[in-house]
Amino acid sequence: MKKILPSEITPENIYLSRRDFLKSMGIVTASAAVLAACGPSAPLTSSPELTTESAGTTPAAPMANTDELGDPLNSFDDIANYNNYYEFTTDKQRVADLAEGLQTSPWEVQVGGLVNNPKTFSIDDLRKFEVEERIYRMRCVEAWSMVIPWMGFPISKLLAEVEPKAEAKYVRFETLVDTDQMPGIKKNPWYQWPYIEGLRVDEAMHELTLMATGLYGKDLLPQNGAPIRLVVPWKYGFKSIKSIVKIDLVTEIPTSLWMAAAHNEYGFYANVNPEVDHPRWFQGSERRIGELGRRETLVFNGYKKEVAHLYKGMDLAVNF
Ligand code: MTE
Repeated sequence: MKKILPSEITPENIYLSRRDFLKSMGIVTASAAVLAACGPSAPLTSSPELTTESAGTTPAAPMANTDELGDPLNSFDDIANYNNYYEFTTDKQRVADLAEGLQTSPWEVQVGGLVNNPKTFSIDDLRKFEVEERIYRMRCVEAWSMVIPWMGFPISKLLAEVEPKAEAKYVRFETLVDTDQMPGIKKNPWYQWPYIEGLRVDEAMHELTLMATGLYGKDLLPQNGAPIRLVVPWKYGFKSIKSIVKIDLVTEIPTSLWMAAAHNEYGFYANVNPEVDHPRWFQGSERRIGELGRRETLVFNGYKKEVAHLYKGMDLAVNF
């Protein structure tokens, strides 16, 4: 039987008393942000306007304590202290410490390439996007997973501002490279830095694809990819690139850091797929952080209804 740990029964107090917390943080006022309570399927079935509130007011609906499948949220502690961020270290439990001092302000995200309206977004520009809350499962390629309440905005909104040209087929993302602040870069010279990831334009435009700026009602911490990261919940976690400084619209499949490191192990698509094992380990089950035992891995990480149409006619064992 599945063992429920205390952290799962009582997720963050700070989060449950969210009204007071948001008021005290002034999150919604500072950024003209709008918070919405929505699980992954919500944006597909209802207009965000129906569930959002004006800046400066307290949210009416408390955030759910589970994802839409009924799985409890991971605790803030889990999410902030068990990380993959190789620019700092490959030791998941040391990322938080090593990343603590990462300077995330000022920060700029340059968006260009095949667009009509290239633009450099400052932190203040990014704060102008309406923020929604999305509870997503994150399934790492290493076969562990968490349920995370992100705050962010669909990347489609950012892309709309730069107006991708018709010939743009892929979106290429790049993380900051700063060897003074990121000790893992020199310690792991065999990786091809910067950390690069990519999506097809239609994957990026999908409603579930999020630019995350926070979680559990707080701004992102460095270890989780502050100040802004990608979250693509139906793909293995390595696609969800952290601390983004550059986004380009391009014609060719971007070569990600992981594709460059081992193209036979890490494909461009990286859709969660229990039927295709990693060459070195089984992908049919996973360890949910905070649980004992393993649980079955779901095709597309449980988002099949929302995203399977993107891959119609493709052999996902070949396009892994
Ligand atoms: N982004 C950068 N820049 N560097 C990384 O090492 N690791 C990836 C992804 N994004 C990584 C990254 C991997 S393998 C995973 S599983 C997730 O971030 C982990 O996100 P988390 O630490 O916020 O849980």
